[in-house]
Amino acid sequence: MQTIKITTPSKCYPVHIGENALTQLVPLLQTMKPSPKNLLIITDDNVGQLYLKDVEKLLEGHYSYKTVQLKAGDSEKSFENYYFCQSFALENGLDRTSVILALGGGMIGDIAGFVAGTYMRGIRFIQIPTTILAHDSAVGGKTGINHPEGKNMIGVFHQPEAVIYSTDLLGTLPENEVRSGFAEVVKHSLIADKNFYLWLRENVHTFHTFSQDQLLKSLTRGIQIKNEVVTQDEREMGVRAYLNFGHTLGHAIEAELLFKGITHGEAVALGMLFALSLQEETQQLGKDLKKWFKKLGYPELPNHLTAPSLIGRMKKDKKATKGNINMVLLKDIGVPYLSSIDTNELESKLNEFLQEG
Ligand SMILES: NC(=O)c1ccc[n+]([C@@H]2O[C@H](COP(=O)([O-])OP(=O)(O)OC[C@H]3O[C@@H](n4cnc5c(N)ncnc54)[C@H](O)[C@@H]3O)[C@@H](O)[C@H]2O)c1
Ligand SMILES: [Zn+2]
Repeated sequence: MQTIKITTPSKCYPVHIGENALTQLVPLLQTMKPSPKNLLIITDDNVGQLYLKDVEKLLEGHYSYKTVQLKAGDSEKSFENYYFCQSFALENGLDRTSVILALGGGMIGDIAGFVAGTYMRGIRFIQIPTTILAHDSAVGGKTGINHPEGKNMIGVFHQPEAVIYSTDLLGTLPENEVRSGFAEVVKHSLIADKNFYLWLRENVHTFHTFSQDQLLKSLTRGIQIKNEVVTQDEREMGVRAYLNFGHTLGHAIEAELLFKGITHGEAVALGMLFALSLQEETQQLGKDLKKWFKKLGYPELPNHLTAPSLIGRMKKDKKATKGNINMVLLKDIGVPYLSSIDTNELESKLNEFLQEG
């Protein structure tokens, strides 16, 4: 097991990562001051069915706990579920010493973190990520829920006390979720570390032969990169925006497809390809990435999506300004920059991108 130190201006905390990292849970809780009076586990029904018993077994005899099991799926990152969790916490006597355990992927991490960040003006929480994607979402302190007007529109910055990343829990992930999380690993490599990108490109040919060692290296380096960015800019006033590489179009695709039939990372993968197609200096890299993504089973853009509707969505992005859409582009691998692009120009480029398929 390894420990990565996350060092944001507001808080430092460990990420314990490796096989059986889950066994660190009780020792970690025991070091917390004040000692938690009780715990609230928030999970979803897929993860709950697979791993809730393991967590409960560890806590048995040490801590009293209650569990909220939400339905799985990003639409559950809702105001209704947020309200339900708050009511449940109040009814079950959680106080300011209590600790919330977020057991699940990014959906659970985001909503449970938001519940923790706002319950009694903020209580402690621990991230127990169970997806590859959550190497991204469990670190950095962004928490929140969706609104019918847009994803992640309501939330707070609230850092966890610790992240316990037990890689043995990842073996049950469906392949499209592996692809989803891996796209964020690739994103981290592209915005920050050419050697890491080249290593991934060289070593990952199919997810069936993705070894524990490769997985651990991918997650560890991804988390380190996220940490480097978040340390510089916890509240996204500047460089943190680079983490949105691929996300402007990615979010628009997810929204246009009503969050069905494509995972977050698969949409981000398409968004990265589009971003790389916009500048001559990255077009070759884009072509190479496209070939690799195809081999790894990433989906193509569904052909019923149109440029005007996607651009309409992109205009609603939190980072859009009047007449322009802000996108993260690369000068080269590891050299991201923010570019403000005229909406009409972007629409014609997107049209070309859609036609290329
Ligand atoms: N806060 C942040 O900085 C940040 C960053 C990136 C993404 N996000 C958010 O993260 C969410 C996406 O995260 P995600 O991809 O982990 O989604 P998710 O939590 O919805 O998990 C994906 C699916 O996998 C299932 N699952 C989870 N772990 C499993 C396991 N070990 N075995 C089998 N099935 C398992 C879940 O039940 C779900 O059906 C989005 O809401 C996104 O907005 C947040
Ligand atoms: Zn993402």
